Amino acid sequence: MKSLVVYFSRAGENSVNGKIEVIEKGYTEIVAEKIAANTGADVFKIEPVEPYPYNYAECVRRAKDEGFVDYKNMDFKIDEYDTVFIGFPNWWRSYPRIVATFIKNQNFIGKTVIPFCTNEEGEFGYALSELQTSCKGAVVKTGLAVRGYDAATCDEAVKDWLKKEM
Ligand SMILES: Cc1cc2nc3c(=O)[nH]c(=O)nc-3n(C[C@H](O)[C@H](O)[C@H](O)COP(=O)(O)O)c2cc1C
Repeated sequence: MKSLVVYFSRAGENSVNGKIEVIEKGYTEIVAEKIAANTGADVFKIEPVEPYPYNYAECVRRAKDEGFVDYKNMDFKIDEYDTVFIGFPNWWRSYPRIVATFIKNQNFIGKTVIPFCTNEEGEFGYALSELQTSCKGAVVKTGLAVRGYDAATCDEAVKDWLKKEM
């Protein structure tokens, strides 16, 4: 059984407990690395061709009305993997449209999808139900939602969750 961790994450200014802080490494990236370290999964980072603004308010504005978003290595396919962890920050109560673009470019038939997200307070929002619809033919598991500021210290939560999900 081959596993892949695919994720999108953005460093820069972010809202943390209602305050603007500068994040050197994206919270979702921190969680993605823990999952990869515990599972030995391969990793694919979804990186936008046009980087998201460093400024939080500008990023929120751009994200609000986005359609599909070009990312680097857009011809990458998940075909050789059985289990696909999909990680993202909660943006506007679901996953960012760049993640929606990645999903649209894949064939999920027969795959197991294990979602994880970081968020300020809204957990998955409606991302899980959107994943159920968009990852056609996949079994979508419950997933793990981590508050951004808990990302650095969620090692045990990740391990416990992996035991249940895998
Ligand atoms: C454009 C944008 C929209 C966001 N929308 C939400 C939201 O609807 N609910 C929420 O709880 N957090 C929201 N957040 C906060 C992020 O989910 C949170 O900071 C996340 O941990 C960032 O992950 P990252 O560092 O991996 O990018 C938003 C952040 C951005 C930049």
